[in-house]
Amino acid sequence: MYWFPLLRGRPVGVLVGRGSALALVQRSLVDARDGHGGLLVVSGEAGIGKSRLVEAAEEVARDLGLDVGHGRAVDDPGCPPLWPWTRLARDRPALAAALAEAPAGSEPGTSARFRWGVGAADALLADARAAGLLVVLEDLHWADRTSLLLLRHLVPELPRSRLVVLATYRDAAGRPVEELLPGLLGSGTTHLRLTGLTPVDVGRWLAADPSSAEGPGLAEALHARTGGNPLLLRLLLDALAGSQAPTAVDLDRLLADRPDLRSLVAARVGELSPRARAVLRAAAVTAPVLAAPVLAAVTGQPEEAVERALAEAEEAGVLRRGTGADGREFAHALVRDAVHADLGAAERSALHHRSALALEASATPVPASSVAAHWDRTTAEGAVGCRARWWAAAARDALAGHAFD
Ligand SMILES: Nc1ncnc2c1ncn2[C@@H]1O[C@H](COP(=O)(O)OP(=O)(O)O)[C@@H](O)[C@H]1O
Ligand SMILES: [Mg+2]
Repeated sequence: MYWFPLLRGRPVGVLVGRGSALALVQRSLVDARDGHGGLLVVSGEAGIGKSRLVEAAEEVARDLGLDVGHGRAVDDPGCPPLWPWTRLARDRPALAAALAEAPAGSEPGTSARFRWGVGAADALLADARAAGLLVVLEDLHWADRTSLLLLRHLVPELPRSRLVVLATYRDAAGRPVEELLPGLLGSGTTHLRLTGLTPVDVGRWLAADPSSAEGPGLAEALHARTGGNPLLLRLLLDALAGSQAPTAVDLDRLLADRPDLRSLVAARVGELSPRARAVLRAAAVTAPVLAAPVLAAVTGQPEEAVERALAEAEEAGVLRRGTGADGREFAHALVRDAVHADLGAAERSALHHRSALALEASATPVPASSVAAHWDRTTAEGAVGCRARWWAAAARDALAGHAFD
């Protein structure tokens, strides 16, 4: 177990069960300081502890005298291409200047674009030359193609540099990361796949957390409920914080009283009506679009019935009021992931097919790339032609907006 009791004056939580992952990170950082950089990839489901491991890695890097830089991708269709790199370039003038040379509108594979990629990579490699540099690129499951292609320019140069790139992502079917990351995971890359903490780790966490005096059976019960996912553990521990030496029985009582926690932890929607379950299964495919008319078209149910189903899911804590255009969103990515994971391949393909048709016919305009992405994920008849047509439309939209991926 590793404690980082004081980090720049701010108390940081315990880190359990990641000893071997952190040892690998530490070795990569020492190697980089000695002139042999590389790519470290950390993957795993939402809440599994990717960002927490990154925090620990940054602390080790600073202790070793390395410089640290950050960029992250965000889940927002309005986000411009290259966002993670743009964020990273905020305090790196050479990189910012190189990125600004991006050849708008040029096709991948053109020499202008190649030169641009090399220029941006060189700027970052130069930044790493003096002290060594850890560059963190978080949440690449949301990254655009251009961002990932730029990473591809950089990776072959890393072993002869003092630069370590630490990238995190979670599996995201149909996103550019799924297509482009495997090509980066060659030799010289360390891939850490994070899984749930063990019951022993959970016990250690409880023992180390001064606010959670543990009653009988709690560690095992917590592990059984969460599969060792640290985010879920954190949520349950916070909710139990009022009880004195909580036990497995207190945990059961808490989950009985709190449907929001129950649905998160159970990650199932089994307690909802069959109609609400059907609507949620469709919503897991159409998200972030959760508009009743679209879901009505996808499920074949009347719009009022869909509205009632959405209200039921909201009451159960599976959906919540959101800031998005449709006013609702999944309570957490974990819930959507869980519903999506429960779909069989045939049902998923059929739902993507109906989603593509529903969005094509939608009264509210949606980006062509969203329609194209649904055509990508269905094996329905005619999908190949529709896919090509909608990606071409998406490319035209991107060019019109001076994007270039
Ligand atoms: N190994 C760990 N030990 C203790 N707490 C952890 C651990 N990993 C993650 N956490 C905590 O769990 C929560 C979710 O982790 P986070 O790193 O944000 O997940 P991710 O980035 O994979 O979605 C955070 O509050 C984090 O501090
Ligand atoms: Mg994270």
